[in-house]
Amino acid sequence: MSPTPCITKAASSSMRIQAVRIYDILLVTMLACLLITATYAEDDEPTSSASTFSTPFVDQGTGLAMERFFGARTSFGFAFATSSSNASSFIGQLSFPLVNGQGWGAMGLTGDMEGNFILAAWPDGKGGVMASFRQATDEDNPPEVTGAFSVRPIPGGTVVNATALSYTFLCENCIDSTLGLNVDATGNAVMGWALSEKAPLGNSADPGARLDFHERGFGPFTARLGAAASAQFDAVAATALQPVAASSNAVPAVAGAAGIGSGGEDSDSEDD
Ligand code: HEM
Repeated sequence: MSPTPCITKAASSSMRIQAVRIYDILLVTMLACLLITATYAEDDEPTSSASTFSTPFVDQGTGLAMERFFGARTSFGFAFATSSSNASSFIGQLSFPLVNGQGWGAMGLTGDMEGNFILAAWPDGKGGVMASFRQATDEDNPPEVTGAFSVRPIPGGTVVNATALSYTFLCENCIDSTLGLNVDATGNAVMGWALSEKAPLGNSADPGARLDFHERGFGPFTARLGAAASAQFDAVAATALQPVAASSNAVPAVAGAAGIGSGGEDSDSEDD
């Protein structure tokens, strides 16, 4: 027996509705996938390039002549001065905007994440700045590390308020090729930076506080270390305070952990 025309019509229209629904679901799924892929691609893309070179800069706080990488988009700056009499240390200055007094910034001895040796700084929640060495041996959560290196704050070049942080420091025994710094024959090295506007997870006064992703930007730049020798280095270095203590969770830094790539190769963006 064949179905009545009415039943046939109802069945075919319900099939049409189902087909439209399946099409809608497929379309929404495809759009979601595209969106997720685009977001991840953007997250993983450096926002600066090794073809950006540091330029001469004079710090207003200390009067120190330095070289500086500066990202116009983010206002992240990393300045540094070297010494002709001290081959293993540099004076550094991390400066970057904060959002409601929160955020963290970092400089790394290489231009990408893989095994990078990093110094990060953030407001400690008590009116000062916390600084901590990390090593990207675990790229999801670079552990805090200790070693022969140390970071000693220079108060004359350190300011923190609701909108910005500037942290000047003596980085002792940080000029170290086993930690990844690769200075070429012209005195240049590809280094890296990273910026987040989020507070560290947990207690900001803890040097081991967890730092998440650098969603404001990151990438390589070329540090003209050879051009950064400063006559005032010793005078400013003499004002450095005692080394910042690491937390009890810090682990020994691993020599030779830095990846072979310097991070400049896949970067065509100047959007720093
Ligand atoms: C304390 C400082 C840093 C922390 C806490 C940190 C954290 C992270 C995390 C959690 C990821 C993984 C994101 C994901 O899988 O979705 C990541 C990826 C990445 N980071 Fe960092 N990072 C830091 C410093 C740096 C620095 C200085 C650079 C140098 C430019 C850098 C370059 C990269 C790159 C290229 C990626 C994506 C590719 C990869 O996973 O190797 N990071 N970072």
